[in-house]
Amino acid sequence: MTGSGPRAVSRRGLLAGGALAAGGALGATVAVTAVSLSDDPATRPAELTPVAEIGLAIEPFHGTRQAGVATEPQAHAAFVALALRPETDREALGRMLRLLSDDAARLTQGRPALADTEPELGLLPARLTVTFGFGPGFYQAANADERRPPSVAALPAFRIDRLSPHWSGGDLLLQICADDPLTVAHAQRVLVKDSRPFATVAWVQQGFRRAAGSEPGRTQRNLFGQLDGTANPKPGAPLETAVWVPDGPTWLRDSTTLVVRRISMNLETWDLLGRTDRELSVGRRLDTGAPLTGTDEHDEPNFDALGSGGLTVIPDFSHLTRSHVTEDRLRILRRPYNYDGVPSADGTADSGLIFASYQADITRQFLPIQRRLAERDLLNEWTTPIGSAVFAIPPGCPEGGWIGQQLLG
Ligand code: HEM
Repeated sequence: MTGSGPRAVSRRGLLAGGALAAGGALGATVAVTAVSLSDDPATRPAELTPVAEIGLAIEPFHGTRQAGVATEPQAHAAFVALALRPETDREALGRMLRLLSDDAARLTQGRPALADTEPELGLLPARLTVTFGFGPGFYQAANADERRPPSVAALPAFRIDRLSPHWSGGDLLLQICADDPLTVAHAQRVLVKDSRPFATVAWVQQGFRRAAGSEPGRTQRNLFGQLDGTANPKPGAPLETAVWVPDGPTWLRDSTTLVVRRISMNLETWDLLGRTDRELSVGRRLDTGAPLTGTDEHDEPNFDALGSGGLTVIPDFSHLTRSHVTEDRLRILRRPYNYDGVPSADGTADSGLIFASYQADITRQFLPIQRRLAERDLLNEWTTPIGSAVFAIPPGCPEGGWIGQQLLG
C-alpha cells in the first residue's frame, strides 16, 4: 500500500482544514504536523503505517513467552476477569484452556475461531494478542497452590484504596489487545462464550490509547494530558531483568506477573489546577514530558537541584520522586490504558487509568513503589484506586500446545 490516492488526500485535507479552522496555539501545532505529512511515498517518513497494514498486522501467538506484555501496546484493550464455577476442577481447567488457547491461536492469526458465529469478524487481526493470567483462585481450583508464584497473592490494603468488588479479584484473566476495537469485541465475545461452561464474568475493563500509527514511537498520553510511560524499562537487558522470570521449573521460567489497578482520575478537581501545579505534582512538563530539571523527555531527572527558594526543583512528594527506581531488577513495566465512562447527569467525568504493571516479582518490584506512593504522592490528591487484581502470566506455548500446559499437564 502507498499513501497516494483518495485516502491520503482526504487525510491531508482533514488535518489542514480542521486544524487551521480550530485556530489558537493548539491548532497551530497540529497544522505544523499536517504540513509535514507528505503524500509522496518517497518523502513520507518511513515509520508511518498505512491504515490497511494496521488492520492486517499479526502478532505471534505461539512462543516461549506470551504476547501482550513486551508487545508494543495496541490502541484498544479489554481486560476480562473470570470467576471459576465451583465445579471447575483441574481436569475442567485443562479442557477450558485447550479451548481458549485454540480460539486465541486462530483469532490472533486472522482466522475465525472454530464454530465462529461471525467468521468475517475474525479476519482482521490488527495485532490482536490474547494474554492469559492466573489469579490465586486458579491455583486453588487446580489443586496446585504449591506452583503459585508466591507474590501472586492479594495485595495489602493501602490507605488510598477505595476498592470496589466490581473491579477487583478474578481467577482467570484474558487480556485482549488489538489496534481495532471491533477485533477486540469479537475476540472477547468468542472467549467469553467458550468460557461459559467453566466460569462467570467477574469484571471487564475496556481501555484505549491513541489510534494505531497516529504517533509512531511516541509515549502515550493519559487523560490528565501527561506523557505516561517515559521511564519504562527499555527493550533488551533492562526489560528482560524487570519483567521475565529467568529460571526455575517449566511453569515459572519465562513467566511474569501482572497487577491491574483501576485508578479513577478526578478531572473536575484537576481542571482547577494551574499548569505549573500540574507539572509540580508529577515533576515533569506536560508538553515535552521532560523532568522539571531538564529539557528533553528522556533527560535524567536531577532530584538534588535547588530552585531559587531553596526547595528542590522536583518536589520531594512529586509522583516522579516517589516512584523513581534506578535498578532494573526493581523496575516495573507499565502498560496502562485510559478509560472514559459515561459522565454523570451533571457532567462529572468517569475517567481514569487501567494501570497494568508487569514485573518478575510483585513483592520485590511493585509493592515497594506502591507503598511509597500510597504513603506520600502529590498525585494522590486527584487519583483513587477503585479496583485491584493480581495474576501470574504463565509462559507461552508451542504450536499444538496450550497455555497452562506446564502447570496442569
Ligand atoms: C492514575 C494513576 C497514575 C498516573 C496518572 C500516573 C502518571 C505518571 C506519569 C505522568 C509519570 C511520568 C512519566 C513516566 O515515566 O511515565 C509516571 C511515572 C511513573 N509511575 Fe505513575 N501514574 C499513576 C499511577 C502509578 C502507580 C499506581 C504506580 C505504581 C505503583 C506508578 C508507578 C510509576 C513509575 C515506576 C514511574 C516511573 C518513575 C521513574 O522511574 O522515573 N504510577 N506516572
